[in-house]
Amino acid sequence: MLPEKQTYASTLKQKLEEGRFTVCSVGAGYVGSLTSIILAAQQPNLRVIVCDVNQNLINSWNDQRYPFYEPDLDKQFDIAVNKNKNIKFTTKITEAIQESDAIFICVNTPPKKESREGLGRESDMTYFDMACQTIASMGDPKKHRILIEKSTVPVGTHKRIHNILSQNLANPDDCYTIVSMPEFLAEGVAIQNLLFPDRVVIGTPTDKNGMEAFEVIKGLYTNFDTNFIHVRTASSELGKLFANAMLAQRISSINSMSQLCETVGASVQDLSKIVGSDKRVGPLFLNASPAFGGSCFEKDIQSLVYILESLGQTQQAMYWSQVLYMNQFQKTRLLNMIVQEFQNPTDTILTIFGFAFKKNTSDTRMSPMAFFVYGLIEKGFHVRIHDPQANERGFQIEMEMQGFSIAEKLNFEFCGSDYSKAVKDSNAIIIGTDWDEYITTNYRNMRDQMNNDKALFFDLRSIIDQQAINFLGFEKVFKLGN
Ligand SMILES: NC(=O)c1ccc[n+]([C@@H]2O[C@H](COP(=O)([O-])OP(=O)(O)OC[C@H]3O[C@@H](n4cnc5c(N)ncnc54)[C@H](O)[C@@H]3O)[C@@H](O)[C@H]2O)c1
Repeated sequence: MLPEKQTYASTLKQKLEEGRFTVCSVGAGYVGSLTSIILAAQQPNLRVIVCDVNQNLINSWNDQRYPFYEPDLDKQFDIAVNKNKNIKFTTKITEAIQESDAIFICVNTPPKKESREGLGRESDMTYFDMACQTIASMGDPKKHRILIEKSTVPVGTHKRIHNILSQNLANPDDCYTIVSMPEFLAEGVAIQNLLFPDRVVIGTPTDKNGMEAFEVIKGLYTNFDTNFIHVRTASSELGKLFANAMLAQRISSINSMSQLCETVGASVQDLSKIVGSDKRVGPLFLNASPAFGGSCFEKDIQSLVYILESLGQTQQAMYWSQVLYMNQFQKTRLLNMIVQEFQNPTDTILTIFGFAFKKNTSDTRMSPMAFFVYGLIEKGFHVRIHDPQANERGFQIEMEMQGFSIAEKLNFEFCGSDYSKAVKDSNAIIIGTDWDEYITTNYRNMRDQMNNDKALFFDLRSIIDQQAINFLGFEKVFKLGN
């Protein structure tokens, strides 16, 4: 125990002032690495350690080979690694925890795959629990640490952590204060999101330890101009799930209008403008698409639905399930529409533009285009996939992860960023990802390389100038929601 006047917060604050404060992120994936790099770059007085069980991933960071594409990552990485020299990447997890004053848990929390109950819905907390067990084993009442949930977790996870700590430690509260601090970054704009966060949410216990933890964490962000929202821990955990559910709901809402626009001669972009200019609604996240993807939205809504159902709140669960239903419906509708345009699939080459789940990222997790690729190759079409950043390995892994077994299939080709390979003799371009270059690329040149007799254009992101493409000799130009 600390002497009466010297609280753990005052010790930690002193360390912060003296540049001896160390934060560690457990998990070097998108969240763990990016949040740590930005902290190290912006707060030169901090020491930052990023640790992971994945040796290849750590090697890649140490060799300055970025494991994924994220705009402006290189600049911040350079500041942290070469200028401030206050960050290190390691697989020595216990050593990293040992050295740390605050620990961010940033491990993956995917939907459960193997249990009957909660299949594909309840969060799989295996990795999270393992990380907590390692942290518990390093508990030391002489060195009070702040333990921060950054992964997106079911509400009540702070109690789960406390249980794990209690199994290993006689007085867990002397060793750790458990805090929830969910991450709101969006891939593709993650660096901007992290440099200028709309808000930093900090959920703590309402007791003295909790209030002190809040003050210490604020001290880690002195060079950030942001708004801190200090709430109770359960609100913070649930707030993250609700935030993602609300964002996904906007996408499903605009998508639910796309077919109606197509039928009645309206434009979904016009609807976005009309509705988005209302300050109560706002303009962002109102673009029609083939579906939302990414590693978060679907899993977080599934988790929310599972929690609601587990508590017998069936009507509320059904309400949020509809967001997912609409997401799947849109994919199925658009796939059927494409398939119906062609009589002889085996003689038809279709080119999909974009496999990343959205622009400005190489991340393919839960890409909606996996469903299209599989649906089309199952029907016998020859499918080519183009993407400026996503790589073939990511593509293969994602197809398997989504349950689309393509190992035996021969009628597809991943073309990377090679346009000529992707469009040669093709019968259609299908825009699946909203990369800016798919707006500006030279489609005249591409049309010349495509099939002479029949070539169609399906813009599932509603980004192209339909009239301009019409002039290039495509038999049909479909623009989603128009
Ligand atoms: N990716 C996003 O855009 C985003 C945004 C906000 C929140 N989140 C949430 O953050 C969490 C992490 O997401 P991510 O995209 O960074 O995942 P990720 O899969 O990219 O990274 C997770 C990392 O944790 C490592 N790991 C797993 N168990 C470990 C352990 N016991 N010890 C050390 N390392 C371990 C894995 O090897 C992996 O590298 C998830 O809960 C996710 O929902 C993600």
